[in-house]
Amino acid sequence: MATKTLEDIPGVGPAIAEKLREAGYTELMTIAVASPKDLSETCEIGEKKAMDIIEGAKLCADIGGFETGDAILERRKSVSKLSTGSKAFDDLLGGGLESQAITEFFGEFGSCKTQVCFQLAVNATLPEDKGGLDSDVIMLDSENTFRPERVIQMANYLGVDPEETLKRIHVARAFNSQHQILLVDKAIELAKDRKIRLMIVDSLTSHFRAEYLGRGALAERQQILNRHMHDLLNFATLNNAVIAVTNQVAAKPDAFFGDPTRPIGGHVVGHTATFRIYLRKGKAGKRIARLIDSPSLPEGEAVFSVTEDGIKD
Ligand code: GTP
Ligand code: MG
Repeated sequence: MATKTLEDIPGVGPAIAEKLREAGYTELMTIAVASPKDLSETCEIGEKKAMDIIEGAKLCADIGGFETGDAILERRKSVSKLSTGSKAFDDLLGGGLESQAITEFFGEFGSCKTQVCFQLAVNATLPEDKGGLDSDVIMLDSENTFRPERVIQMANYLGVDPEETLKRIHVARAFNSQHQILLVDKAIELAKDRKIRLMIVDSLTSHFRAEYLGRGALAERQQILNRHMHDLLNFATLNNAVIAVTNQVAAKPDAFFGDPTRPIGGHVVGHTATFRIYLRKGKAGKRIARLIDSPSLPEGEAVFSVTEDGIKD
């Protein structure tokens, strides 16, 4: 079957298709998950028309239907596992981070969320039989913490060419939440030309938290964050990719989720992330990972260490 394009949506001719593409709605899937209000405003079409287009895109993109269990089993056969670098940590996750899913790492500052991200980025470039995905990596860096020097150290330890490894890691600095969201569209574009099976968002929530302050802004923040998470999940499904996101726990009680040890983004992030891992500091430089809320694995903990060479047992 030929791949459908925007022009296959009933009522979308070349003129509207162009407007849609210009506004960044380049995929049927992006339109199918858009809100009528956004689509109508950004493309300057009536809201009723926008609704029709979204409905049409849903049909063309073949989403929103039911799948039988055996079809899901078949799709899950293509799930890959990306190694964290630590055997204990991998075991906790049933072999590593799963593709076609979002894994969230949350914890306070210095709990090594960013260190884990570096290691995942380096590991993803390794061949599959070495725990990698043999792929390029996209890293959305919202806190300006990407350090090529760290990648070089880890690559050296693994005996792979540091320069080549760095060439496969595509880093984009996200300047604010809106920019961060747009970068996911850019990532979809980039993934058309090369194999990208790991996308990292470090940190997922910091811009949202800084920009949507107070109780009054909470509903909007959660709604936008929810859509962002779904864009990420969409990327994971389209590219059989691993998505790793980080999230700080609120040092001060969050406006809504009063508990200070709760991850930012609360229910929205929690419900869309398939795996949630709580990282905390242990004794003598060790770090502890706790698996929370997994659909198929028991809750448990793993101890790992962060050294100059990277993440290890
Ligand atoms: P925030 O982003 O501030 O929330 O923190 P984070 O969870 O991302 O923490 P990050 O990953 O930046 O962890 C920093 C910690 O990693 C430091 O406190 C060090 O303990 C450890 N670390 C970083 N680089 C090295 C290194 O080269 N060698 C060793 N042994 N440890 C390192
Ligand atoms: Mg960090």
